[in-house]
Amino acid sequence: MLLHTPICDLLGCTYPVVLAGMGGVSRAELVIAVTEAGGFGFLGMVREPVALIRAEVEQVRQHTNLPFGVNLIPAATEDTLLEAQIATCIELKVPVIGLFWDLSAPLVQRLREAGMIVVCQVGSVTEALAAQAAGANALIAQGCEAGGHVRGDVSIDVLLSDIVAAVDIPALAAGGIASGADLATMLALGAQGGVVGTAMIATHESFAHNYHKERLVAAKCGDTLLTDVFHINWPMGAKVRVLANSVTRGEHGDPFTAARTMVGHEADRPFYLFSTDSPLRSMTGDFEAMALYAGTGVRRIDAITGAGEKLHQIVREATALLEAGVARPDEPVPFASPACFAHEMNETYMGFYGRDELLAALNELLEAERAGARVALRTMAECTDERLIAQMQTLHRDEARWCGMLINAILQLHGLPSKRTGMFYEKAMAIEALPERLAFLIVGQKWVTRKLQGLLPNVRNESLHVSLTAMLVAHERAIVTAQQEVGL
Ligand SMILES: Cc1cc2nc3c(=O)[nH]c(=O)nc-3n(C[C@H](O)[C@H](O)[C@H](O)COP(=O)(O)O)c2cc1C
Repeated sequence: MLLHTPICDLLGCTYPVVLAGMGGVSRAELVIAVTEAGGFGFLGMVREPVALIRAEVEQVRQHTNLPFGVNLIPAATEDTLLEAQIATCIELKVPVIGLFWDLSAPLVQRLREAGMIVVCQVGSVTEALAAQAAGANALIAQGCEAGGHVRGDVSIDVLLSDIVAAVDIPALAAGGIASGADLATMLALGAQGGVVGTAMIATHESFAHNYHKERLVAAKCGDTLLTDVFHINWPMGAKVRVLANSVTRGEHGDPFTAARTMVGHEADRPFYLFSTDSPLRSMTGDFEAMALYAGTGVRRIDAITGAGEKLHQIVREATALLEAGVARPDEPVPFASPACFAHEMNETYMGFYGRDELLAALNELLEAERAGARVALRTMAECTDERLIAQMQTLHRDEARWCGMLINAILQLHGLPSKRTGMFYEKAMAIEALPERLAFLIVGQKWVTRKLQGLLPNVRNESLHVSLTAMLVAHERAIVTAQQEVGL
């Protein structure tokens, strides 16, 4: 069970794949499908009346005995309703509560005292530390790639690494996770699992309207954006990641005027233009002009499938990648599963590096790879050229994979993986012109190959030697590809 992490035992699921508590979308049918497939699911109950919460909880319990959660957002809920929601969840003994946006320490404490597991979604290290201090059992680190409301402005790999380094409680990663490769990368960076939102909207069981699902399938890389124009019902300035549409293009006028225009309805309940409501099965209206939430992982959604099928696909792919020690199944790189070799490394032997020398070299490489991964990610966000974006994605994924391998090797030596990012990051990001920055990235890759060439003759352990050789070959290949395909 490669994929089973400690948070699975905390939440009571088989796989560390968690359905995001998406307001409107994550209803009982979706939670049941995800739970039955071995994942964990949150009902998205933001601003929902207690009668609906009761009905949804009951429906889940009628279909499964497995644990599930309810997600609430205090900052977006009127006080009286929030209090009724909390009291209902406590009365119903909901096993897990997910909270998002402004942290309320007394609320976390109250829920813990009521015997519930509390999971807080956060967008910064400061928030993560506050949630831990308040008594949260686990965190969801939400990167700015996420669909829906986005709390912070940091990309998931950076935020996750920083949070994992700062807190003692388990952290899940959220934002752009739509494949097994995404999940494997997050696990390699220290997450205990992945939270999937957007990819679960495009399933038969989600409560989203078919219009929304089909728009997700049709969307391409670069079709999402962060905006605050969908603001009604939420604190001012809250950003959402959505598909670009007539509203984000400004075709409906000023979003912040007092006048309200109806854009849809559900029975006799109206929905307004510029509100945060997204198209649901139960609605009619002008769906194109609603908030079409989507994370950056939307580019990997190519069909509407069953939620269980989607989850198993993610699990199968992540497992295969972890087993093979690679992040991309189409290009297998054989690095050995690192058997524990700490006992071999206590003394220098025949001129090979001793443990301390080796740890220093591995940590130097780890910092460099982390820097490369961060530069690729940031650069990707600035690119408009699809070919370059794809190049940066590959580079980012590879660098993240090597970070995982190096962390693993350092841990096998009973060493402490460095939390630092190499100086290369600052230097590369100081270069504003993208072609020059990309050329500098290749300089960085060449630096890593030279380091590896120097290190390899000094590595005695066969397993580590194979892994580092694979890393060298992959870097050499990446340099050639960049030079040939992108013309650097
Ligand atoms: C349609 C939609 C609705 C969401 N509603 C909520 C919500 O009510 N509460 C919450 O904590 N997060 C909500 N989120 C954010 C998710 O918890 C999560 O951070 C996000 O979906 C992860 O990114 P991804 O969509 O790229 O997978 C929502 C996201 C989407 C896409």
